[in-house]
Amino acid sequence: MRIDVVTAFPEMMRAIFNESMLLKAREKKIVEFKVWDLRKFATDKRKSVDDYPYGGGSGMILKPEPLFRAVDKILEELATTQKEIILMSPQGKLFNHQEAEVLSQKENLIFLCGHYRGVDERVVESLATLEISIGDYVLTGGEIPAAVVIDSVVRLIPGVLGDFSSAESDSIVKGMLDYPHYTRPPVYRGMKVPEVLLSGHHKNIEEWRKKQAKKKTKEKRPDMFKKKDKE
Ligand SMILES: C[S@@+](CC[C@H](N)C(=O)[O-])C[C@H]1O[C@@H](n2cnc3c(N)ncnc32)[C@H](O)[C@@H]1O
Repeated sequence: MRIDVVTAFPEMMRAIFNESMLLKAREKKIVEFKVWDLRKFATDKRKSVDDYPYGGGSGMILKPEPLFRAVDKILEELATTQKEIILMSPQGKLFNHQEAEVLSQKENLIFLCGHYRGVDERVVESLATLEISIGDYVLTGGEIPAAVVIDSVVRLIPGVLGDFSSAESDSIVKGMLDYPHYTRPPVYRGMKVPEVLLSGHHKNIEEWRKKQAKKKTKEKRPDMFKKKDKE
């Protein structure tokens, strides 16, 4: 997979791509990341990427030209038509695990990060193929939302996580929350690790984990529990 990110704040994205799982995915050559500095596609001498809104009002708007020109440049480099141009926006489709799975099957993802008051509507109407929101709250820019989506998508690509089964058994993925985890020491400040986990009895451990996952889901996410119960 190749992931391109167009942003007026490229260092924010570079920092994220240079750590942890995303760095490993790049080192294993499973994913290629490219960060594009929006200012390099500005058309004026001052390299401005934003302008005042027509009709007045507060806040600046990302201009259409730099975004369209950046995508033109990216598309010149891509040898495939299998691409998704994703605009990060609080007005987009609410992101979830199912959407992450769909995106993890694509060859190319292009992320457009908005900023300030938002982006010129012509980008929404004629450039983006998909608008994604990461939740019903507003962040300052699309960089953190893009990072959230990219992280959740890339970890689903086989070979990225050392132990892929750990992605498959994560909370949400199987419609249930994860069971509780413990590591050494067996007793810490008087708090004991459940006996069954120290027993070495695999069948009992599995049963305990299933029971605990069910209990946690029922307590913390009754909506999710109800849905799973109906299946
Ligand atoms: C301050 S926000 C603009 C909000 C816009 N005025 C509105 O009400 O929809 C600036 C940028 O941050 C990004 N952003 C903010 N919240 C987001 C969210 N929940 N999901 C995805 N992107 C978001 C978008 O790229 C957006 O263009």
